[in-house]
Amino acid sequence: MCGIIGFVGKKSAAPILLEGLRRLEYRGYDSAGVALLDEGSVLIRKKKGKIDEGLARLLKSEPVAGNLGIGHTRWATHGVPSDKNSHPHLDQSGKIAVVHNGVIENYDALKQRLLKAGHTFKSDTDTEVLAHLIGVHYEKRHGQNGKNGGENPLTQAVCDALREVIGTYGLAVICAGQPGTIVGARRGSPLIIGIGTGENFLASDANAIVAHTKKVVYLSDYDVATVTSDRFDVLNLGTDTATVQISNLEFSQEDAARGRHAHFMLKEIYEQPRAIENALRGRVDAEGATAKFGGLNMSVSEMRSIDRIVIAASGTSWHAALVGEYLIEELAQIPVEVEFAHEFCYRNCPLEKNTVLLVLSQSGETADTLAALREAKRRGHRALAIVNVVGSTIARESDGGIYMHAGPEIGVASTKAFVSTLAVLSLLAVHLGRMRNLPARRALEILHALEAVPKQIESLLTQNNSLKKIAKKYAKAEDFFFLGRGYTFPIALEGALKLKEISYIHAEGYSAAEMKHGPIALIDKNTPTVFLVPQDSMYDKTMANLAMIRARQGPIIALATEGDQAIKKVANDVIYLPKALEPIYPIIATVPLQLFAYHIAAARGCDVDKPRNLAKSVTVE
Ligand code: G6P
Repeated sequence: MCGIIGFVGKKSAAPILLEGLRRLEYRGYDSAGVALLDEGSVLIRKKKGKIDEGLARLLKSEPVAGNLGIGHTRWATHGVPSDKNSHPHLDQSGKIAVVHNGVIENYDALKQRLLKAGHTFKSDTDTEVLAHLIGVHYEKRHGQNGKNGGENPLTQAVCDALREVIGTYGLAVICAGQPGTIVGARRGSPLIIGIGTGENFLASDANAIVAHTKKVVYLSDYDVATVTSDRFDVLNLGTDTATVQISNLEFSQEDAARGRHAHFMLKEIYEQPRAIENALRGRVDAEGATAKFGGLNMSVSEMRSIDRIVIAASGTSWHAALVGEYLIEELAQIPVEVEFAHEFCYRNCPLEKNTVLLVLSQSGETADTLAALREAKRRGHRALAIVNVVGSTIARESDGGIYMHAGPEIGVASTKAFVSTLAVLSLLAVHLGRMRNLPARRALEILHALEAVPKQIESLLTQNNSLKKIAKKYAKAEDFFFLGRGYTFPIALEGALKLKEISYIHAEGYSAAEMKHGPIALIDKNTPTVFLVPQDSMYDKTMANLAMIRARQGPIIALATEGDQAIKKVANDVIYLPKALEPIYPIIATVPLQLFAYHIAAARGCDVDKPRNLAKSVTVE
């Protein structure tokens, strides 16, 4: 979704802002813009469309100087994507510029009030209303001539305006009358300060600034930061004192670069063996035949007394949650319920005393998932999280959790974070199981099987060329089914999601057994089915389901276990998976499905890393 970068220092700000915005492109956006302070005036350049064809060209033909500025990539919420709705927005005086992520819910009431006072608006956005509101307060504060303890009047004006606002925001503000200062604030939308030498940054996402500094401060909700080239001050609207902690980013600029791969998605698919190794590192306790974690913040007896787990998540992470249900119920015998995060929040789902909420999120910023976490905490339940992005809001607000350590995931379609989540969930299931009835032998079997996964994925990746050929063969299909049973049922859902996200082909994931109860009506010779049919406990039944599709002339691409000869007779194409334990198949089967979706999308000329209408992290509910 929207992205923010701010810079103040001695260097020319425009190239730094532009580069930062390029590093935020992956989040999804429809327009981009910058505002710079130069010789006492605020200068704005903004344009609808991709950065290279829009903003970058504009900055070439109409360059702007200045050592301080803010930039934004917009993903439309209020008002269509257009030049005029792009950020930054100015206040009535034209001296204050604002970029904003989030939604101002009471913007209409505020706008009516400002209209009555004679304000005129150039856009349809809630952000422009916020800019005007800050402008009104700035006039008042500036007039007081620093009577309020000499604080920066821009900071005071931002605080005053935010006290009137209902909604969510991550924002950055500059003002012609306050050269050398950027004010940032957050509530519900992430914002960090990047600390440099003689220069400082603001950003909604560490990727935007990791090339310049690794020292960051994660702002908390209601924090307001005043940033100059050589210092930053943070206050909190709720408590007046803010807790500021400097953290180090754990990844480098290279980790967030595409390297030799054509797309970030492909790079991240190839990073999966390392991602699994990182998820397992230091967590396998062979002696105790269990898994161990540092950050769950629960005693053994507390873990032991969990009698139900609700897993809440969104998108791809929701599919991981479904696999988590199978894993935890089988290995730990704890009842698990999987919820779409947004449904969990609003349907008053009964939670018994010892129910724990577990949220899964790559970004740690998904608004629906964050809301689920907060709802469980509000109701007095412990909320744990499995998260990738270190220092993200969900990571900080959960009572305990486990990091995936997958490194930055840039491609909008989640790949390595998904398999990392599955690896962590497998460890968690073993951990919980070993406190109950899971025999050591079975636990060790699972743990060893997990340790073998990186090599198995590597061998699957060597099949890339043959997968590409199969993908090309089906690239013109307009409808697809993905079918699986048991542990691979959620993977069928994920395979279908990957395909529709990046190729725009209509794809449905379904239970292979449920197919006969309705959707089979859609099968014909033009509707291929990707069948997950590994040699697991469901094999014979899945083969019977497959025969039903074949009988209706539906083309079949089967994912089967190596050595399975029978499948060749009934499937049009076969992709072989290495032999694995049943609970491990979800991780392994995911990899060819990712490559399949990738090659189909590439063959159709789709923008794989930035699919239309999608955002990497959705920070509005
Ligand atoms: C967005 C992305 C999906 C992602 C979902 C949940 O919708 O487009 O790819 O799965 O958010 O993201 P999270 O960061 O919470 O895992």
